[in-house]
Amino acid sequence: MTQTVSRRDFFKMGGGLAAGAGVAAAGLTPASAEAAVNTAASLPYKPKLVTHAKGMKVNEPVSFTYPDAASPCVAVKMGAPTPGGVGPDQDIVAYSILCTHQGCPTMYDTKDRCFKCPCHFSIFDAEKGGQMVCGQAPSKLPQIVLEHNHKTDTVSAVAVNGLIFGRQANVL
Ligand code: FES
Repeated sequence: MTQTVSRRDFFKMGGGLAAGAGVAAAGLTPASAEAAVNTAASLPYKPKLVTHAKGMKVNEPVSFTYPDAASPCVAVKMGAPTPGGVGPDQDIVAYSILCTHQGCPTMYDTKDRCFKCPCHFSIFDAEKGGQMVCGQAPSKLPQIVLEHNHKTDTVSAVAVNGLIFGRQANVL
């Protein structure tokens, strides 16, 4: 007797087999495989002091490195509430400045309030979570997660949301 398999069922079986084979080949249980995948996007790091909120001027970039010395970043006080913004005005944001296309260091343009890549001209919007405005980059700039301590007025980097260029995961 011949059994027919619908096109949808065929692809369902294929996807399940392929996923199972990949997990088995890597020696992972399905649960640990899922955990490994989930760690690539956003990992917590040791907090690192960036600056004091009161010392920041609107639209003046502050350079720092995070989560390690090989990862240049810039913090900017945008002057109006911004997605992911911290501080008294919810407007201090920070990004990895390494372009997500081929890793060139981008530069903050105070006139356009964007990060611009000098290599192939990708542009990233600092007011919109590092979203790519134009260019060849495949994704937004990784946003550095900041925390503001109201008592000490310190702004600290605590995590990275997105994959820093050239890394397989944002692992220290
Ligand atoms: S490295 Fe930035 S656009 Fe190519």
